[in-house]
Amino acid sequence: MTVHIVPAPAVLVEHPTAPLLLRAGTRLLTCEAGLPAAALLAEVLARATGRALEVEVAQGPVPGALRLELDGDLEPVPGGAVGDAPGLATRAQEAYRLDVDSDGLLLRARDLRGLLRGAATVRQLVELGGDGARIPAVQVEDAPHHGWRGLSIDVARHFFGPADLEPVVDLLWLYKLDVLHLHLTDDQGWRIDLPSRPELVARSSTGAVDGDPGGAFDGQTWADLVAYAADRGIVVVPEIDVPGHVNAALHACGDLVPGGEPTPEYHGIDVGFSRLTAELPATSAFLRDVFTDLAELTPGPYLHVGGDEVLTMAHEEYVDLVGQAAAAVRAADKLVVGWQEVATTSPAPGTVVQVWDLRQDPAPLVEAVQGGALVLMSPATRAYLDLKYDATTSLGLDWAGHVQVHDAYDWEPAAVLPEVPGHAVVGVEAAVFTETLRTRDDLMWMLLPRLPAIAEVGWTSPDARDWADFRRRLARHPALWSADGNAWHPSAQIDWLG
Ligand code: ACM
Repeated sequence: MTVHIVPAPAVLVEHPTAPLLLRAGTRLLTCEAGLPAAALLAEVLARATGRALEVEVAQGPVPGALRLELDGDLEPVPGGAVGDAPGLATRAQEAYRLDVDSDGLLLRARDLRGLLRGAATVRQLVELGGDGARIPAVQVEDAPHHGWRGLSIDVARHFFGPADLEPVVDLLWLYKLDVLHLHLTDDQGWRIDLPSRPELVARSSTGAVDGDPGGAFDGQTWADLVAYAADRGIVVVPEIDVPGHVNAALHACGDLVPGGEPTPEYHGIDVGFSRLTAELPATSAFLRDVFTDLAELTPGPYLHVGGDEVLTMAHEEYVDLVGQAAAAVRAADKLVVGWQEVATTSPAPGTVVQVWDLRQDPAPLVEAVQGGALVLMSPATRAYLDLKYDATTSLGLDWAGHVQVHDAYDWEPAAVLPEVPGHAVVGVEAAVFTETLRTRDDLMWMLLPRLPAIAEVGWTSPDARDWADFRRRLARHPALWSADGNAWHPSAQIDWLG
């Protein structure tokens, strides 16, 4: 068997008949509304095969052509977790059906996002051989299990700009993830220029951990990255972490510090020492301004308020400050996401609480869910892809142990905490904190091969997931990674085929 689609589709039938050959001049037909998916597919197939495809707005069928069709009647294959993630594409919108034989390829979906998901399957099906590029004869029916399938990247400890992040977005697309969460601020740096607070990047973006060079998004580079992701059906969720992890803000704005003196720059990797102060008059205006500006820069539905690891603050003050941040987000018509600790603040119904540390008492989370909060699962022991693979891994941290490919694969988000009802779980997000990661190669080496494992946890229903079969399929993916110039870690858990 040569077909090796990751994440595994709901239905896959491999026909023993001849494949579709991609020739010079093979046509790619679509309707006006399907053009963005057709253009993307033509681009990635040209990169993969060296052959340009002609994209045309035209109706088929045409012998030997590829066709992308929007079909409002297409019913998603049965299945799925309970409920969609509010604000993200629904299961029906991401569903697609693909039929390939030697006469042509037909990809159908209700929505452009379904065509974008199906296009990733087409890319993975392309085989390069002696007689050129071909796509095997298959039938695929597919739709996601979980609605929120994300990757969080810390661009504060080390800055990663568009040149590093666009290849990451390409990977998210290839593996049918739909959220890119960017951790934009922390003690070590402030990485997004906000029009009402230019001093934040002016004073706090030039450095990074260990004195490495910093950087920040300006309005244009940010807008371009958000658009690049949107073109691939991926929503950007930006995070400004408050009320802890704020030394970059305290270094830029002395009025946020008791006594009025800006704090020194910080380029170490300790956590938990910096904090906002509720009783200072500047604090409320700061929270309102930064989340209002961030909302202006964000077409997506969610803003992340952070809320993690505030170790030096009375609980009442924590509740007040997280509440002010969340209120500013809601006033800007956005939905609130916060790390696990915000569960202790009686979050408003609909708040997404991102679980990361299974050592924390689950009781506040259970209570928050009873109050209408939703849960996003990023348990460090499964989904923190900055943790080392094993004791020999040079990069990465190990505070929650090691995460091998099997650890990243063999779990179900809705079953992580038995106390939390599965209906409240919107999905899964991998996370990469970058204390030890400096370059695109470092980042990719931690993501590959674990990100595809998390992607299958998010997309494929638990009863259709199988480690032995995943290993077999994943073993063929290095060809895809190398074609895009991505570094990867040859984990000994997989019998790689290159
Ligand atoms: C976290 O890892 N502090 C969310």
